Amino acid sequence: MSKIKKIGVFTSGGDSPGMNAAIRAVVRSAIYHGIRVYGIRQGYEGMINGFIKELKSHHVANIIQRGGTILKSARSEEFRTPEGRKRAYEQLKIHEIDAVVAIGGDGTFTGAKIFTTEYDIPFVGIPGTIDNDLYGTDYTIGFDTAVNTVVEAMDKIRDTASSHNRLFFVEVMGRDAGFIALRSGIACGAEAILVPEVKTSHEKLKSLLEDGHRRKKSSNIILVAEGDDAGGAFAIANKVKEDFKEYDVRVAILGHIQRGGSPSAFDRFLATLLGNAAVQALLDDQKSIMVGYMDREIVHVPFNKTIKHNRTMKQEFLDIIDIMNV
Ligand code: F6P
Repeated sequence: MSKIKKIGVFTSGGDSPGMNAAIRAVVRSAIYHGIRVYGIRQGYEGMINGFIKELKSHHVANIIQRGGTILKSARSEEFRTPEGRKRAYEQLKIHEIDAVVAIGGDGTFTGAKIFTTEYDIPFVGIPGTIDNDLYGTDYTIGFDTAVNTVVEAMDKIRDTASSHNRLFFVEVMGRDAGFIALRSGIACGAEAILVPEVKTSHEKLKSLLEDGHRRKKSSNIILVAEGDDAGGAFAIANKVKEDFKEYDVRVAILGHIQRGGSPSAFDRFLATLLGNAAVQALLDDQKSIMVGYMDREIVHVPFNKTIKHNRTMKQEFLDIIDIMNV
């Protein structure tokens, strides 16, 4: 029999579609195993300030299809301090919480890792971020939905781009990672992608555009991840405009629409699997791990590993963009 009687659950960092489905899965799975669940509102901020309330099964009814997070999210400066973490610990103790499920990304797990070295409360993480940049899982919750949102927008941009023979620079999210740009770039036939993982070569971009011009391509779309070293879509577009007077250049920044909306079927499926796996991991006395999904199996990845290692971008996927542009 597990000694865990009450668990807390919270969402933290940038929200992502499917977080609600993960909360629902944690709540229902815990209740199934006779454990009470407490929702911590506003991430680590709420833990510090005691924004903690019990969640019953009916509280998570009808949320599997909703974007955002019913528990709200935040990035907490105070939790970075020992005093902040002490206050959070005191609140967890006041509410008699034995273990915690943290839904978020790198920053969330870094906080959890530090906290669990200082205090004896097990934390298990669920990867929730649109960026898909976590080591140890093939997919993070929200990525699939975000990519579908980008693809839908790109198809619309393609219509207008080809009507006017225009060159578009479309900026997508990803401060530190280009996985959204890569996946959507392949899915909507972008002429090129610029990502933080690969140094941008103006020469390569120039020859690609020259070639397109020669072939009288009716539209060109370059997907730019916001963290690319070229400095974002506007910066690169301005530079290209100087070199290519013949091109009619436009910029579109997709921004936070990528974070919203109803989660895709895949994200709901993943969130439900991982929510259940997180509760199961706590029941099995696991701590300081992230539950991930690799090769169609649930895996446990120590926080240490997922924080320390970067997810690598497959060169063969990058090559596909060029191959398709022949
Ligand atoms: O980490 C998720 C993410 O959406 C990144 O892709 C993006 O760079 C960042 O969050 C934006 O954060 P904010 O919502 O604080 O502007």
